[in-house]
Amino acid sequence: MLETMRWENETLFLLDQTKLPHVISYLPCQDYSEVKMAIQKLAVRGAPAIGAAAAYGLALGMLKGKGVEFEELTALEFYRQAQTITRELKDARPTAVNLSWALNRMLSVLKSTIDQAPSSLSINDLRSALLAEAHLIYQEDLEGNKHLGQLGQTLVPTGAKILTHCNAGALATAGYGTALGVIRAAHTAGKKISVFATETRPLLQGARLTTFELLQEEIPVTLITDGMTGFLMARKMIDLVIVGADRIAANGDVANKIGTYNIALGAREHNLPFYVAAPISTLDLNLNRGQDIPIEERNPVEVTHFAGKKTAPDGVSVWNPAFDLTPGHYITAIITDRGIMFPPYHKEKWQRLVGQPSRLTFKFEGR
Ligand code: MRU
Repeated sequence: MLETMRWENETLFLLDQTKLPHVISYLPCQDYSEVKMAIQKLAVRGAPAIGAAAAYGLALGMLKGKGVEFEELTALEFYRQAQTITRELKDARPTAVNLSWALNRMLSVLKSTIDQAPSSLSINDLRSALLAEAHLIYQEDLEGNKHLGQLGQTLVPTGAKILTHCNAGALATAGYGTALGVIRAAHTAGKKISVFATETRPLLQGARLTTFELLQEEIPVTLITDGMTGFLMARKMIDLVIVGADRIAANGDVANKIGTYNIALGAREHNLPFYVAAPISTLDLNLNRGQDIPIEERNPVEVTHFAGKKTAPDGVSVWNPAFDLTPGHYITAIITDRGIMFPPYHKEKWQRLVGQPSRLTFKFEGR
């Protein structure tokens, strides 16, 4: 599978997902503003991948100060500069909580490094601490997805036909994927599963990315348009649904790619299990319910045009929310890297799950 991102020679190379599946090219980013732009234009996308890219973005920003002589800063001034860049990066996209989760984690590592040895640290020590944390966020996501996949595949019956929406695969993460991680693990376990992938209008993450990933691994996949999911269920052509998430509120409400809610409604009507797969970094216990999750609205051009060609009349008014909200009571289970959560979803239960020690105990040793 292609790498979503790669750190090499003080440069972050991001796989340009806007060009997939036909062109494989990497965007070299040497400053945090380039990373921010790549996130905004969806060159890197998917909640966990956005988080990891932003972490590297902050490390980059603190490596090469624009107009700031970092070497002359005190540790505290360096920290304040990191806060400024963090604020800018957080603005890139509003819905996926992994973005602020990763950046907050970066800042807190910087703070504790400074607090532990305030006077003996050089600016380069602080930079190394930031970069090591970015590598760790990346590596933990990769390992976490594999674990999540193993847990999730126990819910998948042999021979299951699975519907997925958007792309919650290796490309949306540091690797392996969440919803596609469960699908990969079920396939590897010899369960002879097959997948229906929605094209995912308007930006076609399903048609361009999910089918691409599954074909590469020879997992049987059939592409459908978004409007076909209800009829697919009525015809009894699928056994279960698995999607990813951009943010999960304490009551189990899930923000995910626009169209997810329609699929959940259909699954309820047709009595089909509807699973969400996401790392624990996608959980936002500061929000009690989904209505409080900010939903990104994107450029109308994404809807008035198809593959660069205008398809709608000039002057038409457009609404283009990139995500929707699926109420927790439609979700059969939420599969995380710490365990599987079944309803009812509430804060105390989540806190117990989050409090469980992560299975991942390794220390990053270079990449
Ligand atoms: O707009 P995108 O492509 O970033 O949206 C991606 C999704 O909605 C994914 O389902 C979600 O981020 C989970 S990715 C593991």
